[in-house]
Amino acid sequence: MNLSFDPSSPAQIETPALASYVFDKDDRIEGALAALDRATGGRLKRLAESGELTGKTLEMTLVHDLPGLAASRLLLVGAGKPEKFDGAVLRRVAAAALRSLRAKSVTHMTFLLREGERNVAGSQAVTEGLLLGEFDSDFYKTEKKNGKVMEAVALAAGGGAAPEIEQGITRGRVIAEAQNFTRTLVNEPSNRMTPRILAERAQQMAREAGLAVEVLDEKRIAEMKMGALLSVAQGSSEPPRVIVVTYTPGQMKPGAPVLGLVGKAVTFDTGGISIKPAEGMEKMKYDMAGGAAMLGAMKALAALKPAVKVVAVIPATENMPGGRAQKPGDVQFAMSGKSIEVINTDAEGRLILADGITYAKQLGCTHLVNAATLTGAIVVALSNINAGVFTNNPEWQEKVLSSARRVGEKMWPMPLDDDYRELIKSTIADIQNVGSGRGGGASVGAAFIREFTDDTPWVHLDIAGTAWLDEQKPWAAKGPTGIAVRTLVDLAMSLS
Ligand code: BES
Ligand code: ZN
Ligand code: ZN
Repeated sequence: MNLSFDPSSPAQIETPALASYVFDKDDRIEGALAALDRATGGRLKRLAESGELTGKTLEMTLVHDLPGLAASRLLLVGAGKPEKFDGAVLRRVAAAALRSLRAKSVTHMTFLLREGERNVAGSQAVTEGLLLGEFDSDFYKTEKKNGKVMEAVALAAGGGAAPEIEQGITRGRVIAEAQNFTRTLVNEPSNRMTPRILAERAQQMAREAGLAVEVLDEKRIAEMKMGALLSVAQGSSEPPRVIVVTYTPGQMKPGAPVLGLVGKAVTFDTGGISIKPAEGMEKMKYDMAGGAAMLGAMKALAALKPAVKVVAVIPATENMPGGRAQKPGDVQFAMSGKSIEVINTDAEGRLILADGITYAKQLGCTHLVNAATLTGAIVVALSNINAGVFTNNPEWQEKVLSSARRVGEKMWPMPLDDDYRELIKSTIADIQNVGSGRGGGASVGAAFIREFTDDTPWVHLDIAGTAWLDEQKPWAAKGPTGIAVRTLVDLAMSLS
């Protein structure tokens, strides 16, 4: 999709579709819209008075052939109450505008920013919305969507502010393309996204972006004594990989933090011997969304160049019930030396993260964030709305949460006090991989991972509920969301 800046004044913009947004308030036709209204001889005011144009969130009003406008159509998207309006709403407005016009076979559009958003943040949010809205998960449909492709989008700002708008377009493109890269990886079915293929995709991305990359194969993984990862991988004939992507800044202050991004990449989770039910199992191809988020974040950071070093560590494996698969009750030794009783082979994410975190610390990471589709319990607690956030260090967590708020990714802090340690006590080993009771599954999973952090500031993002959209939304396709990419990028930038 081509993206550009159109300096024309609103009524003169020549385009098949001019899109903008309307607030839900009495004086709906003001600012940029008042100018359009005057050009059309008051038609927008009349539309508002008729009750058809209300500004309610994501209401779509499409008007054709307005006299006085060079555009063939005008699409006005409801932006809701002005007091609730922010970058997140604007991102959705832009995405929904693109998707609704594209559904009508419109191939070119111009998005008109209004007065308050004619700045870097505004044009960045719109750019992100447009590119994220463009994503679809129909990769393998052989009948192509009869020309329904948005080929070109321009941003307009009623003249002026060009440098800011251009800067926002550039930044927004870097971030949204990185997030869509993550979604592309997550959308692939498991036969087309094995640990080895994920490693190849990471190498290709790193090469193109100018990042360092190292892939540990099964031999190296065994030499490193990553027993927890290997225990999950042993049930599959696909070998595991550990993918390490490193960004090193040109200039680094001594004593600066080294950010470690550890992502769960189970390219398919059958549950292993503790096998999952057939219904819905196909969705478990998305169990590598945490790892894919880290790769997306690295791709963006390579372009945005923060002043801190960032290392992504991605343990990748299948979780299969093969003849060599680990069995409930087996005891494994993690890379850290801790012994683990594997009560349930379906709690495999925490096992591979244990070794991923140990390795990230060995590589010198001083601050850790991990992302993982870790538990069904987080979906029970927070539905598909918020990602769950757990930590061993409240200040570090606050940094992550404020990044999430800035970029409009919903995340919510969950409890992880010392008492949760009680629940993973094992009779035979140091710890067991599931809780002894039935409650608090998401915190139990986090408590297990915490055992491997040794007080290195660490935040765990449980994205099981938020990495996949089960129903399409006006602003997004059904399928992978790319959650956490924007937060992690903002976090790394805010450390520099
Ligand atoms: N990949 C799943 C988490 C998951 C489950 C995501 C359901 C989305 C929907 C993870 O590996 C898993 O199976 N977790 C178990 C843990 C349990 C055995 C303690 C779960 O949540 O059921
Ligand atoms: Zn599992
Ligand atoms: Zn899993």
